Amino acid sequence: MTHESSVLSYSPQSAIRAREELFNRLQHYPATPEETERSLGLFVRGSLLARMLAVAELYQRITTLPGVVMDIGTWRGQTAVLCENLRAIYEPLNFTRRIFAFDTFEGYAGFGEKDQPSDLHRDGSYATGGDYAGYLRELLLLHEQSNAMGHNHGKHQVIAGDCRQTIPDFFAQQTHECVALAFFDLNAHAPTKEAFEAVYARMVPGAIAAFWQLTRSATPAEGQVYVQEILGKKPHRMHRAAIYPGLCYLEKC
Ligand SMILES: C[S@@+](CC[C@H](N)C(=O)[O-])C[C@H]1O[C@@H](n2cnc3c(N)ncnc32)[C@H](O)[C@@H]1O
Repeated sequence: MTHESSVLSYSPQSAIRAREELFNRLQHYPATPEETERSLGLFVRGSLLARMLAVAELYQRITTLPGVVMDIGTWRGQTAVLCENLRAIYEPLNFTRRIFAFDTFEGYAGFGEKDQPSDLHRDGSYATGGDYAGYLRELLLLHEQSNAMGHNHGKHQVIAGDCRQTIPDFFAQQTHECVALAFFDLNAHAPTKEAFEAVYARMVPGAIAAFWQLTRSATPAEGQVYVQEILGKKPHRMHRAAIYPGLCYLEKC
């Protein structure tokens, strides 16, 4: 299936061609595997770097808070993996910073009457295929093992299934866990609302709930949930990542 970023883009054709050529050059880089592995920064696009720096901006806000990180709608797990690496950079001795990545891995689930599904966003789109949950578990473990204090690994979990079920089940089993940072990226109204309500109840004061789509008209679910269920009802401060306009985040008061 076509990925939405190849259809919806603010970039001109020249920029899209340059992006494709960068990726092409990564695949045919004229160096040894060892040199290529150490040179991956040559190919990270500015916009991807901005996204990583924005996640780092949020991560730095929780280093003095207890609680876990949740990546809800993790898809291929980039944010979860990034958070493991940020954990190792900013708080290498905090072995209690567990990371939980949630996804169906079978694509979107839960579009209902409040949503307007499209070819790009409907039940089943963004499916990863295969045992991607298993693959992501291994990736997280490899990152943990390669990071500082890597002998202390196995802190993270990848939880497959509809988050309307898996998140309540998770909290029912993990009766002691509170939340420092949660990313939401589900795009359908009911899953976003239900996931947020469950997570918010476990967020410590000062904890961060981040929304990737809050201000995006093409995918209004997060904005609707924010306006209808949070604004004026749940005490918080609202922020936008300084260098990545799409990423907005709420700080629980
Ligand atoms: C836009 S993608 C997420 C992109 C990802 N956050 C990133 O930064 O790369 C949305 C993801 O939400 C997942 N998803 C949608 N509805 C879900 C549900 N009810 N339960 C669990 N995952 C769901 C989809 O499978 C998809 O992988």
